[in-house]
Amino acid sequence: MIFFARLHPLIVHFPVGLLVSGALFEIYGGLRGDEVVKAAGRFNVRLGFWCVWPVLAVGLLGLMGIEVPDRAKPFLGYHILAAFLSAGLFIAVLLIGRFGKSRLMKGLRFLFLAVGLASVLATGYLGGELAHRYGLPEPQAGAGNTSR
Ligand code: HEM
Repeated sequence: MIFFARLHPLIVHFPVGLLVSGALFEIYGGLRGDEVVKAAGRFNVRLGFWCVWPVLAVGLLGLMGIEVPDRAKPFLGYHILAAFLSAGLFIAVLLIGRFGKSRLMKGLRFLFLAVGLASVLATGYLGGELAHRYGLPEPQAGAGNTSR
C-alpha cells in the first residue's frame, strides 16, 4: 500500500534518533561512570524501542504497494535484514537490562548496545539509499543509474 510506503520515511527518524542518542549516552555514561547520562540513555533506548515497532509494521505494509527496481533489491534485502537484526538486538538489550544482574550479563548488554547502534545506523544508511538513490517508493525512470 503506497500510503504506508510514503508514511515509512516520515516516521523512521524519531525512533532512529532515540535509539542512536540513547545508545551513545549509555555507552558514554557507562565508560565515564556518569549515572545521569546513563539513565538518560536508558530512557531514550526504551522509548526508541517501543517507537520502532510501528516503523517495522509500516515498512512491511508499504512493501506490498511498491514496485522495487532490480538494482535496488539487494539494498532492500539488506535494509530489511538490518532492521530485524536491530530489533532483535534491542530486545536482547532490554531483556538483559531487566533480568541480567551479573557482570557478564552487563558486559553482554553493553556489547549488544554497541552492535545495535551500528545496526540501526546501517539500516538508516540502506533506507536512505532506497529513498534517495533509487527514488523509492515511487522510482523515476533512470533513478540509480549513476555509478556513485
Ligand atoms: C528498524 C526498522 C527500520 C528503520 C530504522 C528504517 C529506516 C529507513 C530509513 C531511514 C529510510 C529512508 C528514509 C528517507 O531517507 O527519507 C527507509 C526507507 C525505506 N524502508 Fe525502512 N526502516 C526500517 C524497517 C523497514 C522494513 C521492515 C521495511 C520493509 C519490509 C522497510 C522498507 C523501506 C523502504 C521500501 C524504503 C524506501 C522508501 C519507502 O518506500 O518507504 N524498512 N527506511
